[in-house]
Amino acid sequence: MEPEIFNLQREGIYIMRPYVIINFAMSIDGRIALSTGEQTRLSNEEDMRRVHYLRNSVDAIMVGIGTVLSDDPSLVVKEIYVKNPGRPARIVLDSKLRIPSNAKVLDGRARTIIYTLSNEDRKINAEIRRMKGNDLILKDVLEDLYSIGIRRLMVEGGSRVIGSFLKDKMFDEMYIFISPHFIGPEAPPAAYMKTASRIEEMIKVSMECRMLGDGVLLRIIP
Ligand SMILES: NC(=O)c1ccc[n+]([C@@H]2O[C@H](COP(=O)([O-])OP(=O)(O)OC[C@H]3O[C@@H](n4cnc5c(N)ncnc54)[C@H](OP(=O)(O)O)[C@@H]3O)[C@@H](O)[C@H]2O)c1
Repeated sequence: MEPEIFNLQREGIYIMRPYVIINFAMSIDGRIALSTGEQTRLSNEEDMRRVHYLRNSVDAIMVGIGTVLSDDPSLVVKEIYVKNPGRPARIVLDSKLRIPSNAKVLDGRARTIIYTLSNEDRKINAEIRRMKGNDLILKDVLEDLYSIGIRRLMVEGGSRVIGSFLKDKMFDEMYIFISPHFIGPEAPPAAYMKTASRIEEMIKVSMECRMLGDGVLLRIIP
């Protein structure tokens, strides 16, 4: 388990936040779903096992509301991959509280926390944590997660959430499984972010890779 993390912000302020591991699967051309936004299985069995082990090693798993609406993931650790699985919490970033009441993350199989800006009084099977302001600021969400005991967080997407973490340089490790497919440019990219128009605007990272079955696993450090 990693030590407590103090993240140095650009303005030189230290915050206490969980250790953040981003994980997703993409095609060779950097797409994470079909052009309709519909989920397609890009991970092979070896990668699924790795993902479930990773899920089992964290305190919480985060997605954006876009992923809940398009894929309806349950975000639990599956017993077919991990013996005696734990029950990491499930975190959804949902500023307008759009989550459907029948979403699988509300099925009670693990603790679920929704971060929102909405004051709507909805009875759903989750803890609602209301933040202030016009946007859900990642730094504030991460500090709040730390304050409630989340020390190790896995971020599973989708494109907008990954883009936000990249833009704010708010991650410690990233795993990308590259599947042996091309999907095409109309499909959702790995990360929605400002497109670099100058070399200095590109986000430079360090990476290592290994084969995982018929795909490649990248491990990226900011
Ligand atoms: N291949 C993979 O590994 C993988 C994994 C997961 C998802 N996906 C794919 O990703 C796609 C969904 O991606 P998406 O970009 O539409 O949705 P998303 O990233 O899951 O969710 C984005 C939404 O989250 C909310 N949000 C609140 N605070 C945010 C913040 N600080 N930063 C970013 N978002 C914030 C916003 O909605 P509000 O303004 O309403 O709050 C935003 O539109 C789907 O096609 C899914 O299949 C692929």
